[in-house]
Amino acid sequence: MGVMRIGHVSLRVTGDMEKCRRHYEKMLGLYETHRDPDGTTYYKCWDEWDKYSVQLTPAKDPGANHIAYKVEKDSDLDLFTKRITEYGIKVEQLKPGEIPFVGRAIRFALPNTTRMVLYAEKEFVGKNVGVHDPDPWPDDIHGCGVMHLDHTLLMCELDPVRGVNKVAECTDFAMKCLDFYMTERLVGGPDKKVLGLSFLSCSSKPHDLAFVGGNRNGFHHMAFYLESWEDVGRAGDVMAKHRTRIDQGPTRHGITRGRTIYFFDPAGNRNETFAGLGYFANRDMPIIEWSEENIGRAIFYPTGVINDAFRDEYTAAS
Ligand SMILES: [Fe+2]
Repeated sequence: MGVMRIGHVSLRVTGDMEKCRRHYEKMLGLYETHRDPDGTTYYKCWDEWDKYSVQLTPAKDPGANHIAYKVEKDSDLDLFTKRITEYGIKVEQLKPGEIPFVGRAIRFALPNTTRMVLYAEKEFVGKNVGVHDPDPWPDDIHGCGVMHLDHTLLMCELDPVRGVNKVAECTDFAMKCLDFYMTERLVGGPDKKVLGLSFLSCSSKPHDLAFVGGNRNGFHHMAFYLESWEDVGRAGDVMAKHRTRIDQGPTRHGITRGRTIYFFDPAGNRNETFAGLGYFANRDMPIIEWSEENIGRAIFYPTGVINDAFRDEYTAAS
């Protein structure tokens, strides 16, 4: 049993829906796979095989409706329901189709209030290059040409003075109930006992889900995968052509060694283009630990400087 990977993010977008669609389709390079009468639009990346990894829903406020991860087997949903309930968190059972194009699913709130969905089945559409003698990329690749949705990073309220640490609570839950394992962490405070950041994996990637401490809970970003530094550099050019609001980069993380650009969609939700697998992660890999005084290099390795927007500007996740 187990959580295999991120499945999709259901995102709230505001304002001009066409502008948001252009951002995800023309700029990032996603492919529209469905549109509901109310304007809700579904996208997949060219190297993904399920119906969608991004659901854009027209809304009054930006943010994430939920983050969804795919589990290996349908019966895993019963086992996770039992574990999560015993942990003390309420689990909703969703019938097939309640999450569009998805089989039965479970939904619950993480300790930082982010709604999370687990499911085992989603309508299959196939990779854009197919699986029989495939070419390395499709002829109609466009924009940044992102390959797949890679991970999400969630903000967690952290106030050691008041004894609030949602990073620690979310991490404990994800490791105990969902079998994620820790690859990297940052510890701070007088006794180096305050968990300020944790990167968790359910695969052999450096992270599939991350929790970072901040003033309030929220949705920090979702990241789309690219192959190389060159692709990240080219993505910067594509963003400039589209007048995309860039937050940081192109640059590199100390954590995960990933190469990155952070930028915003027209509604203010942060996206990332993320390249390189960084290293081969495994359950027996020693946890990489960052100290509080090096948090700058952990996040943005070349400069060691964390800009105010990166720290303070993010949308809601519930
Ligand atoms: Fe990221």
